[in-house]
Amino acid sequence: MAYLERQLDEFDPAIQHHFHHTLHNHPLMQFDELSRLALRNPKVRFHSAKLERTQRFDTAREEHVTGLTLQETLDNIDVSGSFVYIQEIEKDPVYGPLVQEVYKEIKKDTLKFHKSISRVEAWIFITSPGGVTPYHRDFETNHYFHIKGKKTLFLWDPRDKEIVSQEENEYFHGVHSLAKTLYTAEKFKKASKYDLDPAMGVFFPFTAPHMVENGTDEFSISFSITYTTAEDIQVRRVHKINQLLRKIGLKPTDIEKQNKLEYQLKLGAHWVLRTFIFFALSDWIGS
Ligand SMILES: [Fe+2]
Repeated sequence: MAYLERQLDEFDPAIQHHFHHTLHNHPLMQFDELSRLALRNPKVRFHSAKLERTQRFDTAREEHVTGLTLQETLDNIDVSGSFVYIQEIEKDPVYGPLVQEVYKEIKKDTLKFHKSISRVEAWIFITSPGGVTPYHRDFETNHYFHIKGKKTLFLWDPRDKEIVSQEENEYFHGVHSLAKTLYTAEKFKKASKYDLDPAMGVFFPFTAPHMVENGTDEFSISFSITYTTAEDIQVRRVHKINQLLRKIGLKPTDIEKQNKLEYQLKLGAHWVLRTFIFFALSDWIGS
């Protein structure tokens, strides 16, 4: 079997689904090897995993420090109550080739839907028993491979306006913040629930809200490959312009309700603003 096997008639980038994989058996996905990666990788972060579903995830790194070093955190991962994530592992000389091999399999399904795909990144998540990753969204599309332990993943449909409102979407993309991305008991009723074992993975559509609760018996490991498509970059730019319009007191048309011309005008406005800011900054730096 290849690394990734979907039980789907057809892949659709807008539809979440689970899949099977074999990465949990790979020597590079074992804890000792991943600890070595964490200790040599410049983009490793860690904080407490003793969090509530409702807490902000984008500020957890500053607000929920454990006081432990990375070495102490990893040596005591069974009891340290920690969450460790390793970013940009595609840049690691040992892990880079594996990331490319897995991404090649992902590409077989995804490439035909998009003009281009960029910012392909790979991540490792290591969580102590009982750890919680609060409700949040990320700015990418995600293939999430569960490697070790048990965890429950809750995933929402980002197209559902009762889950992601127009205003929240514009704030999320425009301000790059989770301040308006809030968990509620009402939203919880609409979550899809995945009880993850090693060898199981889940596809998250672009910016799909999610939340993870680790099993209490053992620590867990998961691996992700994320990417951004050309279409997602445009969507993001339109949301940014809408957020700007909202900021100056206007009520922008929702991205899904606007016509093609309005969409293109907003993309043009984004280009003009970005160019203006670039030249203003260049002038200032050179002055
Ligand atoms: Fe996430």
